[in-house]
Amino acid sequence: MDFSLSEEHKLIQEAARNFAQKAKEGVIERDTKMEYPTKTVSEMGELGFMGIMTSPNYGGSGLDTLSYVLVMEELSKVDASAAVIMSAHNSLAVWGIEKYGSDEIKDRYLTPLASGTAIGCFCLSEPEAGSDATSQQTTAVDKGDHYILNGVKNWITNGEKADYHVVIAQTDRDKGHRGINAFVVEKSWEGIQIGVKEDKLGIRSSDTHSIIYTDVKVPKTNRLGPDGFGFKFAMETLEGGRIGIAAQALGIATGAYELAAGYANLRKAFGKPIIEHQGIAFKLAEMAMEIESARMLVYRAAYLKDQGLPYGYASAMAKLKASEVAMSVTVEAVQVHGGNGYVKEYHVERLMRDAKITQIYEGTSEIQKIVLSRHIAKGNLQLHL
Ligand code: CAA
Repeated sequence: MDFSLSEEHKLIQEAARNFAQKAKEGVIERDTKMEYPTKTVSEMGELGFMGIMTSPNYGGSGLDTLSYVLVMEELSKVDASAAVIMSAHNSLAVWGIEKYGSDEIKDRYLTPLASGTAIGCFCLSEPEAGSDATSQQTTAVDKGDHYILNGVKNWITNGEKADYHVVIAQTDRDKGHRGINAFVVEKSWEGIQIGVKEDKLGIRSSDTHSIIYTDVKVPKTNRLGPDGFGFKFAMETLEGGRIGIAAQALGIATGAYELAAGYANLRKAFGKPIIEHQGIAFKLAEMAMEIESARMLVYRAAYLKDQGLPYGYASAMAKLKASEVAMSVTVEAVQVHGGNGYVKEYHVERLMRDAKITQIYEGTSEIQKIVLSRHIAKGNLQLHL
């Protein structure tokens, strides 16, 4: 078993680490003002991060999932808002269009998305359909060569900036989850209204909005996959998305840990650096151990996906573990910093606020346990590499 990164992966990691240092500039101000990281997103496009796993045929970087994880991890150490913009775009919008779009759809949407000149979002959640994703109230009524889309989507990452929306809607209520479809919808089409920006606890510089669709005409050719495939499409999309969020959580935890370890070496109390006090030293040891165990799960999920092996169980486990580690490690990082941890300039309070969402979006921790327990009930443990 080889735990080392390839030379190519190390280069990607280094490039992402260097980029993240630049992306750090202004991060506190953007968080305070809920200001979108326009420059960072545009540079991510130039570096190929906005089409990191997309085929070069569409202008993408054609890299593997582990590369995506490494970039997400580095970026999340310093700016988890920019990271979720990248993650929702790549995992939730671009991936599904590439996997299930017709050639015509791929030609039209993938090239601008992969270069980052266009942004994508994923519209599944609704005011009454968050965890219970089959309870879609948004409807798409079949009118022959097009559908008429009506409904409200909530908590949409990239909601305002996205040019192309992957929208999940009910086409035949009597068929339950088999009467759900997924569509690519263009923001410029008539009948689309972007709701107010959410004022969030964390990831404050990513834009999160509701989106209202009123009698939007969607060509039938914009449906992704066969009729009735939308729910499975959404579940499959989330299986991959959870690897991105797990990597985000891992990055948040690592960023906070590195700050805490650095601070504990410098800060003196009772005549010595606080790292020499056992109360602090033991905290750092636990943080390091938790982060390493989460990293193994996150990289394993990416590895399984890259090998073409089933990864739903692994991605749910990685997301569950990494998000719990992100939360506990960031709380401890604030504690290690004492009073300084509670003020913005030390960054750890922001990382603590950012960590919380990783336990909520793309399925709460409880949803990950449902996914895991259903795999276990089927005897489908996927515990091997
Ligand atoms: N891949 C393919 N098919 C799948 C699947 C998967 N991973 N998971 C389930 N299915 C299929 C099932 O096989 C079943 O099909 P059949 O009836 O043909 O066998 C069908 O889908 C229905 O499955 P369930 O009965 O398991 O469905 P459920 O209603 O019990 O829900 C759930 C399962 C796991 C709870 C699911 O609803 C879920 O994941 N909910 C959470 C949704 C979520 O993560 N929302 C986050 C929104 S996106 C977001 O947060 C983006 C952002 O801003 C960053």
